Amino acid sequence: MRSVFRRFVKFSANHPLRFMYSLTLYQVKEILSYYPSNYKQSAVIPLLDLAQHQHGGWLHVSATNVVGKYHLLVCGTTPCMIRGSRDIESVLLDHLGVKRGEVTKDGFFSVGEMECMGCCVNAPMITVEDYSNGSQGYTYNYFVYVTPEKVVEIVEKLRKGEKPPHGTQHPKRIKCGPEGGNTRLLGEPKPLQFRDLDAC
Ligand code: FES
Repeated sequence: MRSVFRRFVKFSANHPLRFMYSLTLYQVKEILSYYPSNYKQSAVIPLLDLAQHQHGGWLHVSATNVVGKYHLLVCGTTPCMIRGSRDIESVLLDHLGVKRGEVTKDGFFSVGEMECMGCCVNAPMITVEDYSNGSQGYTYNYFVYVTPEKVVEIVEKLRKGEKPPHGTQHPKRIKCGPEGGNTRLLGEPKPLQFRDLDAC
């Protein structure tokens, strides 16, 4: 038994990639075995998790796409689309002179699309992924309630190395509140009414 183990250690040391490959294949088979034969595709999440672990955890966006120092993502899901996200995207693309997925010649900007980021109440919105300080100093901020003029202003501030304030870009809305302040739920909520079971 010991000699088999010693041979295995020696093989792994000499063939690290083959060792990793067989280990991964073993793990893939193990994961797939948890799922019934007609639902093997449901293993996709644990398999992707396995792939991420192989890459040391988080898979950096630059591993799949080349992006600019500032990667601008426009939300394209229905509420943002109804509120003008397509205009926002075309203004950004025109202003930067790129197509979606391309990087500007100076390497500063790229534009992409993403799905709903949960800010629909303040649609339309963009996200700025900021790699200007390398992956260690990476930031990811939402700019909500944007207009075509506002996104150009944001881009130009970033170009100058400024940090435009993120969050709502509407001058009269605070956070997610409506313009002019709240009109509903102004006091303490009433306690829930329960049926008195003892009285039944
Ligand atoms: S649809 Fe854009 S944030 Fe929800």
